[in-house]
Amino acid sequence: MRVLVVDHPLVAHKLTVLRDKDTSSPVFRLLTEELVTLLAYEATREVRVETVSIQTPVTSTEGVGLVKPTPLVVPILRAGLGMLEGMTRLVPTAEVGFLGMARNEETLEAITYAERLPDDLTGRQVFVLDPMLATGGTLREAIKFLFARGAADITCICLLAAPEGLATLQAELEDRDVTIVLASIDEKLDEKSYIVPGLGDAGDRLYGVV
Ligand code: URA
Repeated sequence: MRVLVVDHPLVAHKLTVLRDKDTSSPVFRLLTEELVTLLAYEATREVRVETVSIQTPVTSTEGVGLVKPTPLVVPILRAGLGMLEGMTRLVPTAEVGFLGMARNEETLEAITYAERLPDDLTGRQVFVLDPMLATGGTLREAIKFLFARGAADITCICLLAAPEGLATLQAELEDRDVTIVLASIDEKLDEKSYIVPGLGDAGDRLYGVV
């Protein structure tokens, strides 16, 4: 498993505004999309491409095309949905599957409540979208699920991570082809497993308290 923290002033700036408790939901949604597009640019460095021949108005030449099947993007519902637009803006031909996972706020265990994914992911390159890598429980279950279906490599795009959650994933996925791309590794988890300093409940800030 590899961890990549994207070091860019615009990433840091947009993240600062996201963290601010006075940032409204509409601005939070817009900034999340913009931030994900910046993270996705780094996260797709290893996207599979092949040589293609094309004709320019002047001559014939070679370029690159995305290998088919194109990457599968999997937002983890609910909060990951707020990241989808930012990702597909960069890779519009990606296929999209959905995984609904939530954490039981008492046991902090991840449960799967919805799933819309191809049965066979053999050899597929998968990008998982989940804004907050807190305890790591949700992401660990999602990654295990996708590898069990045959995924070849998995890149997770998150806004923030806690060191505790990263350590949990690292211990279980050390030898697996997993990359975690982030805007920041924060200080710690609090007693309710919220990321500190964090940005609060990402789902609530995107969509309101429901
Ligand atoms: N999920 C969130 O939305 N925020 C946190 O800080 C931790 C988990």
